[in-house]
This record gives sequence, C-alpha cells and structure tokens, in this order.
Amino acid sequence: MRVFLASIPLPGTSIVVIGAGDAAAAKARLFDGSGAKLRWFAGPAAEPDEAWITRWPEAEDLCGARLVFIALPDPTQSAFFAGLGRTSGAQVNVVDQPGLSDFHTPALIDRDGVVVGIATGGVAPVLAREVRARVEAALPQGLDRLARLAEGLRETVMATLPDFMARRRFWEAAFRGAPRDLAVEGRTAEARREMLRLLNRPEQPKGVVHLVGAGPGDPELLTLKALRALQDADLIIHDRLAPPAVLDRARRDARRIYVGKRRGEHSVPQEQIAELMIAEAKAGHRVVRLKGGDPFVFGRGGEELEAVRAAGIDVIVVPGITAALGCAAAAGIPLTHRDQAQAVSFVTAETRPGGAGPDWTSLAVPNHTLAVYMGVAGAAAVQAGLIAAGRAPDTPVAVIENGSRPDQRVLTGRLDGLARLVAREKVISPALLIVGEVAAWARSSATEQEVAA
Ligand SMILES: C[S@@+](CC[C@H](N)C(=O)[O-])C[C@H]1O[C@@H](n2cnc3c(N)ncnc32)[C@H](O)[C@@H]1O
Repeated sequence: MRVFLASIPLPGTSIVVIGAGDAAAAKARLFDGSGAKLRWFAGPAAEPDEAWITRWPEAEDLCGARLVFIALPDPTQSAFFAGLGRTSGAQVNVVDQPGLSDFHTPALIDRDGVVVGIATGGVAPVLAREVRARVEAALPQGLDRLARLAEGLRETVMATLPDFMARRRFWEAAFRGAPRDLAVEGRTAEARREMLRLLNRPEQPKGVVHLVGAGPGDPELLTLKALRALQDADLIIHDRLAPPAVLDRARRDARRIYVGKRRGEHSVPQEQIAELMIAEAKAGHRVVRLKGGDPFVFGRGGEELEAVRAAGIDVIVVPGITAALGCAAAAGIPLTHRDQAQAVSFVTAETRPGGAGPDWTSLAVPNHTLAVYMGVAGAAAVQAGLIAAGRAPDTPVAVIENGSRPDQRVLTGRLDGLARLVAREKVISPALLIVGEVAAWARSSATEQEVAA
C-alpha cells in the first residue's frame, strides 16, 4: 500500500479554502452541509459575497484549522500559504501540486454517512475518477439511510447481543437482507421494524421480493437499480422476455427458475408464480422476479405485487424501460412530435378470452401514436378496427421485432398493409406495432419495396 486513506469526522472541524477560481469553489462545495466550519478566503479582488471573505488569510486565521486547501494560480503564493497552514498545525493540500501537499483528495463517493474514497497517491487522479464512476454505479443512493438506522440501533444491538460474534452475524444479516433493501429504498420505518425482528429472531431472516423490469432486451437498458437487484439476488424467477444477455448480468451463483412459456409448453400459472415467490421470500431469500420491459405495463406485475403483499412479504418495484420506449428509440421513431403526434397510447391487441377489445374509435385519431403490444397475431384486427373507426388507410406503421436486441428487425408500411406485412415477413414475437404519422421516421431494416417484393 503506497497511500493510506484516513477518515476525519467533519462536524465542528475547521476547514480553510484559499483561492477564487473553480477549483477553490469545488473544494468549498465538498464541505457544504457537512457540519464543518468552513472559511473561504477568495482574496481582495473577489466580488463581495457572503460565501467567502474578500482578503487573504493571516496566520491567526489558520489557527485551529484541521485542513487547508489552496487553489491559487501563483506557485510562490501557494507555497507561502502552505507554509503558513503547516505552521498553524493544519494538513495542507495544494490543488494540482502533490509535491507541496501533505495529503491528496481522493475521488469521493458521498452517501453522507457512507463515504468511499479512491486514491492513487496523486499520480493518476483521472483513473481514480474512472474507478469512482464504476463503484458509484454499484452503490445504492440511499446507503446513508442504512448507516443512520444502524447508528440509531447500535446500543440496542449491543445490549441484546453482548457477544461480539453474534453481533457481527446480526449486522451481516441486516446489511444483506430485507432491512438493507427497505432502508435504501427510503422505507426506513419498515427497515427498522425488520432489523428489530431480526435482532429478536435471528433464526428467521425474512426475505424480500424485487419486482424488476428488465427492459426490452438490451442489457445496457437495465437501470442501475435493476442491475444491483440482479447482482444481489439469491433467486431469479424469469420468463421468455428476459433474454440471456440480461440474465448474464446477474449474480453467477443465483438460482434461476424459468416460468415462461416455450413453444408447445404451458407457462407456470400466475398463482404458482406468486406462491413460489412467497415461499422463497419466507425462507429468507432475496427473490428477483424479472419481467420484460416494465413490470407494470402489460406485465401482470400488479397482480404479483398484490399477492406477495397480501402474504406479508415486502416488495420493492424496480421500473424498466417498456417495449414502446425501447423499440421506438431503437427504430428512431419519436413517439410524440410537435407537428405529428400530440398523444401516445399503449394498447394491447390481446384481451382475456371473451373480453372486450380496445375501443378503436377513441384511438383512431390523427396525430395520435399507438404502440400496440402483443399485436402479431391480432395485426389484421388492429388494421381493420382502426380503419373502420376512421383512421386513414395510408397512416404510416412500423413493426419492430426483437427491439433493442442484436436480431432486431424494423419493417415499415401503411396501415392498410399491416396484416400483410406481418404475415409476409413472418414476424415473430416479441414484436411491437407502431401506428401513426411518426412511424414514417422509422429507420427500416428492409425497404417497402423489398418487403413488397
Ligand atoms: C406481455 S407483454 C410485456 C410487456 C412488457 N412488460 C413491457 O413493458 O415492455 C409482451 C409484449 O411486449 C412487446 N415487447 C416486449 N419486448 C419487446 C421487444 N424487445 N421487441 C418488441 N416488442 C417487445 C411485444 O409486443 C410483446 O408481445
């Protein structure tokens, strides 16, 4: 180890910043709201402002300062103030001058109560920032809430578990299990309840279910939250719409259960999926129910949420990029457009057996984009319904098969040729139909002539 990272409690600590430029401002900003006593000397030329002092510091100004940051363009002046700071007993950092500094500022990830620093001893600050970006993506935003919760319960835990190893086991379970997941989501009261439950009944850890949107298929379209949930999962319950590229991002040793439908097979009934999630969570596991797109858009996520909640299990919902958004972006179709589409509707062409289809009359209006889910088998009905309700037969349409995936196909045509296009091109599921003026923007993977040929 060539550098050592120490952490300094900031409340009440005296910090001095010297300089007037952006670098000085960045240092001053670091301590905003930290509880440190910050004095920022911006020099006599600075505009008066309550944030800084418009003179340079004297020796007595630096008395009692713990850290002094110097961000001045003049090296002689920097060296002078560095000497002054050191004589006062402070640790000095001169921005971009490692040789003049007692310490370097690491690249910091600030989650308030939890701070991560990445240091390279001042030799490669840009590399430190690169590493920070990667670590930052792996850390939930609400980590601080967990730290505060742990702080609030520390004495109770000490009193309940006097044995060091038992305490350690408790904290490990709390920081890995439901209390962590709930706290980082901001559900602090529930997280506290779970921590106390775990403290009193450590033999019965309670799991949690994450209802996670996988997006349309491109793993790069997973949200940071979805990725973290996948990487923390004990069990992943997935279906056909979760492609291998997305599952590849999950924790290697997480168990996987496929509950989708393959050709000639039946999918696992919805009640059984809910029962599975509940049983696994009750066994203390972190369950990820991975659903294509967004769990709440034509995904039956609402039913699963209801069933799991009714069993007293905590559920965390992680939204995903729904097929309409992912496919439109991949095909270069703006779903709304100032001149061509003032509204967009997400419609399903598939209904429950015997159920009513969409009300085409309200949807067959000009300048209104339709993103039609599950429309391959029903393309003829979509075409006929919209034209009968008054939509112009030459309205542009686009069919996006396997949107956002390596095998994506984008086909374009007119509404009156939609069913023919789908049949001729042997479009397979998953495919999304986009109907409306904006569909003319699609970057087609086959021209109309090729399609018609
Ligand atoms: C049961 S719905 C699930 C929708 C999903 N919850 C969402 O938000 O995208 C399945 C339908 O979504 C559409 N879909 C999902 N992923 C797709 C993709 N990658 N490309 C094209 N359509 C997709 C298709 O219309 C498919 O039949």
